[in-house]
Amino acid sequence: AQTVDRNADGVVTVGGIAVTQLAEEYGTPAYVLDEADFRARARAWRTAFGADADVFYAGKAFLSRAVVRWLDEEGLNLDVCSGGELATALSAGMPADRIAFHGNNKSPQEIERAVRAGVGRIVLDSFQEIVRVAHIAESLGRRQRVQIRITVGVEAHTHEFIATAHEDQKFGIPLAGGQAAEAVRRALRLDGLELIGIHSHIGSQIFDMSGFEVAAHRVVGLLKDIRDEHGVELPEIDLGGGLGIAYTSDDDPREPHEIAKALTEIVTRECESARLRTPRISVEPGRAIVGPTAFTLYEVGTVKPLEGLRTYVSVDGGMSDNIRTALYDAEYSVALVSRASDAESMLVRVVGKHCESGDIVVRDAFLPGDLAPGDLIAVPATGAYCRSMASNYNHVLRPPVVAVRDGQARVIVRRETEEDLLRLDVG
Ligand code: LLP
Repeated sequence: AQTVDRNADGVVTVGGIAVTQLAEEYGTPAYVLDEADFRARARAWRTAFGADADVFYAGKAFLSRAVVRWLDEEGLNLDVCSGGELATALSAGMPADRIAFHGNNKSPQEIERAVRAGVGRIVLDSFQEIVRVAHIAESLGRRQRVQIRITVGVEAHTHEFIATAHEDQKFGIPLAGGQAAEAVRRALRLDGLELIGIHSHIGSQIFDMSGFEVAAHRVVGLLKDIRDEHGVELPEIDLGGGLGIAYTSDDDPREPHEIAKALTEIVTRECESARLRTPRISVEPGRAIVGPTAFTLYEVGTVKPLEGLRTYVSVDGGMSDNIRTALYDAEYSVALVSRASDAESMLVRVVGKHCESGDIVVRDAFLPGDLAPGDLIAVPATGAYCRSMASNYNHVLRPPVVAVRDGQARVIVRRETEEDLLRLDVG
């Protein structure tokens, strides 16, 4: 867990540093990331899966060069899904053979760059891409290791926009109607490709393991069909990411070792009954590693009580640093962190500074009734999909990411400046 504490004055400290000091030095809003917690979670996943499996951190959750170095040091691999993420990974020294390249519409330039760099695998997402990657690899005189991403037809119980294994969506090749089998047939015929496995990612923020169980069953079924038709046993399966974290006290996430045990058992059992060698398993957790490791620190600007309704608390950021509440109805909690308070609590809605009424950070929460401008409040569990989905809406500047560890703080992604904004505006 994050090393969060309150000192004698009621000021919250993280990684040994008071949030008031962080606000003074780095300003607000800011994402504050606990490096020790990040490393501990990465290590827990690595240890849980052991030497016979691979853990690919999903860079889309949050990626920076410091994070890439921590992952490298902790023995994790990396999943990237754009040229930008690939560039970040390579520039921080992640060995290319530990990188997986994803995406449903990788450009020819991105593919070429990935092949040239020697990425460990490209995850193929469509029939066109099978041919595209094969041609590019061949033209470079390479044989690219690839997996094929399939959709197994599982409805994961999560928000519609982040569920990905039901059939009516853009990712992967459906298992249904023999399409995945046909994709395998084509990939096996192409000299530029070395087909090493099948990939399935069923969604995100999932707590129920039964979706993974069905997915594993169906992926192994395909491996068996491939063995029967082609006489080859593909050596790898990737079950994707998607494990949920606690945003509020209602959520009850599983530990990495429980997840590893469950997934390994399912795959082993399914393979035994299909008389297949158990393939090497890989997983791609993003949120479960980085999500809980950071909070967003905001300063309260205005407190507006609306008689009989609730109190609106405006902070100095909003939907530009956390779009998840507006986009997915995501739930967050919030706490006063710059002082203690005995005041009775009041029902608040924490909102941002954007010109839009949907600019909500925390829909319903309780904060002390004496909350006032200048107070610092923190929204926990904003490590995943907040900085990485941040925007410049209303030309608001994106906050920095400040990493804390052992009483030391350092900026790993600096705050955007007006100069940064204007640099792109060349008209
Ligand atoms: N692997 C693949 C192929 C993925 O598409 C994703 C997430 C992951 C792994 C990592 O999933 P995680 O372990 O982080 O759940 N922006 C949304 C989440 C989108 C997830 C997209 N793909 C959110 O803020 O909830």
